[in-house]
Amino acid sequence: MTLETSPLDGKRLLLIIGGGIAAYKCLDLIRRLKEKGMSVRTILTRSGAEFVTPLSISGLSGEKVYTDLFSLTDEVEMGHIRLSREADLVLVAPATADMMAKMAAGLADNLATTALLATDKPVMIAPSMNSRMWEHAATRRNLQQLKEDGVHIIPPGSGELACGEEGTGRLAEVDDMIGAIEFFFKPSGPHEEPLAGKHILITAGPTYEAIDPVRYMANRSSGKQGYAIARALADLGAKVTLVSGPTNLAAPAGLQMIPVESAAEMLAACQNALPADVAICVAAVADWRVSNCAGQKIKKQDGALPALQLTENPDILKILSTDKVNRPELVIGFAAETENIAANAQAKLKRKGCDWIVANDVSTKDGPSVMGGDYNKVILFRGKDREDWALGHKDEIAKNLAQKIAEFYA
Ligand code: C5P
Repeated sequence: MTLETSPLDGKRLLLIIGGGIAAYKCLDLIRRLKEKGMSVRTILTRSGAEFVTPLSISGLSGEKVYTDLFSLTDEVEMGHIRLSREADLVLVAPATADMMAKMAAGLADNLATTALLATDKPVMIAPSMNSRMWEHAATRRNLQQLKEDGVHIIPPGSGELACGEEGTGRLAEVDDMIGAIEFFFKPSGPHEEPLAGKHILITAGPTYEAIDPVRYMANRSSGKQGYAIARALADLGAKVTLVSGPTNLAAPAGLQMIPVESAAEMLAACQNALPADVAICVAAVADWRVSNCAGQKIKKQDGALPALQLTENPDILKILSTDKVNRPELVIGFAAETENIAANAQAKLKRKGCDWIVANDVSTKDGPSVMGGDYNKVILFRGKDREDWALGHKDEIAKNLAQKIAEFYA
């Protein structure tokens, strides 16, 4: 694996941690940013301190944590003006509805809001709140105002929220926050963007096949690996179209995302996105769909089981690989296997007509779980050529694959 320098190496972040249950994610964020060579100075708001402690933050950041505008020690050591300017980027995470309202109104009633008003550096926010609060007209208004003020937004994800409700409002995952920060600091220039001018189509996530208006069947897939690949390719300058089934992940910055539900929708979106130079099918597409999908919710009837009729879904990878008019120059498939990984992957490569296949071992016997987890163990097959990669973070696997694609074009 090639070890490249992160665009975050030597950069300075001022992280403002607001008061939300998701504040705990910031601890991992700090750790990961430090690993990438970024220095992280933190302002912890009073409500943020209800969720994480200054001690745990400074333990990870290796820096003093600033909390109080009126603390003389803080002001003597480091005035709030200096604090707000001795950074390359200011990130507010989690950005609560209250914090967004204060920022939009330009209030400066504590150290965090004062620093935000005093800074001359770019500001990014990662909102996190209950979905009703996120959708409230006041929050929409504040979000619009912040966008107009040039604040960069890391959109919240959707799914189950800490309050037990479902909806949009979850703080973006750490990977997505890092992706957004890296995208922000991404060096520009043709020599650093080996995939500039290339259009890359990626499928990710599961597909949902409706049984009736409230039920569906699907494969397990978090979408993490596909999103990471999309981010890594965008980082190398590619124009990326990400066709994604339903996931809890926020749309990565700097690429076009087309959300879909079913395999049929995924195929249509892929075909619409052609021509593309490269297609990478990472999605865990459901093999079947229900051909007699009910128009109304199927009622339970004294133990009688509904007779679902299944029909085979289109094989998107195979269709793209065998497209007579618009076949991308390089088509890459994924093969999740639990046994005979190499043999099954080789057979799949032939059957589907793709050029490369990335086989991943989804059995959990050695190491952390791949499904939904952050790590992956893969073998890359390029025709007969086989490369076994060490267990790595999905981001690392993504970067390596993006690098291989860049080498293909080099
Ligand atoms: O046949 P299997 O599902 O194991 O093949 C996996 C590969 O095929 C993955 O790249 C997946 O994205 C792709 N695939 C597809 N459309 C399907 C089934 C799988 O694109 N209907």
